[in-house]
Amino acid sequence: MLTVFYLLLILTVGRCSDDLNFDMKTVGVGDDVNLTCTRETSSEYKATFFWIRLVSGNIPEFLGGTYSFDYNGVNKTPRMTTKQEPGTFLLQIHETKLSDTGLYYCIKINELSLTFLKGTFLRIKGPEPDITAVIQVPPSDPVRPGDSVTLQCSVLSDSENKTCPGEHSVYWFRAGSDESHPSLIYAHGNSGDECERSPQTHSPQKCVYSFSKKVSSSDAGTYYCAVATCGEILFGNGTKLEIEGNCRTF
Ligand SMILES: *[C@@H]1O[C@H](CO)[C@@H](O)[C@H](O)[C@H]1NC(C)=O
Ligand SMILES: *[C@@H]1O[C@H](CO)[C@@H](O)[C@H](O)[C@H]1NC(C)=O
Ligand SMILES: *[C@@H]1O[C@H](CO)[C@@H](O)[C@H](O)[C@H]1NC(C)=O
Repeated sequence: MLTVFYLLLILTVGRCSDDLNFDMKTVGVGDDVNLTCTRETSSEYKATFFWIRLVSGNIPEFLGGTYSFDYNGVNKTPRMTTKQEPGTFLLQIHETKLSDTGLYYCIKINELSLTFLKGTFLRIKGPEPDITAVIQVPPSDPVRPGDSVTLQCSVLSDSENKTCPGEHSVYWFRAGSDESHPSLIYAHGNSGDECERSPQTHSPQKCVYSFSKKVSSSDAGTYYCAVATCGEILFGNGTKLEIEGNCRTF
């Protein structure tokens, strides 16, 4: 999608104007954002200014227009407003959505000539995972077939900056020495009992997930703990489970 935008931009810059003022802006979803465009005020000619946008998959959209002379008309939709400010033509977007990501252009039309004055690539950023670390501790004692082993995974999160709604989910994967892809072996339920919140509000939250299993010699391999949150999955570094007695058979 970005490639299409850049391509459009290059074509536009190449064809229409050598001095298109272009910038990039990133804001969080739900934020308000203002885009401004310099409005040359001249009484000699009556130019018109427009804000338009190109959002991937849509035809160009008209967002509002004004004149070069002072004019107090306002174009207003529930989330977008265009209006004059001293020396500028302003586009205000209220409570941005992810779908507002796109190219925004301010254009000037003077009789039969059209000039791109300003292009802004606006990116709306979704919530970010608040997980700061996924720590796996290897079992301390050597493991023999028939033993019970407990693997532990600690998930540290920044409780202050909790941006994703809902709890995270935790999974265990195992990559055996003979398998190319790790396979899912266990998913934790969402009890929340694993988490301890420190009393201070600014300290991180720590959740400890344990997975116990009675091992047989075929359970050797690398065990990964993975945390799914905010539509992303974060893996721990993995714990290698070596089973005594296996080595001699190689
Ligand atoms: C956008 O501009 C308006 C009017 O100038 C101002 O009141 C508002 O604070 C600005 N908002 C942002 C996010 O800059
Ligand atoms: C995990 O591995 C990376 C790269 O090998 C290392 O930088 C990081 O410190 C490791 N994390 C933990 C918790 O051991
Ligand atoms: C939490 O978010 C705020 C604002 O985004 C940031 O300034 C702060 O550093 C973050 N806190 C931590 C512990 O990352």
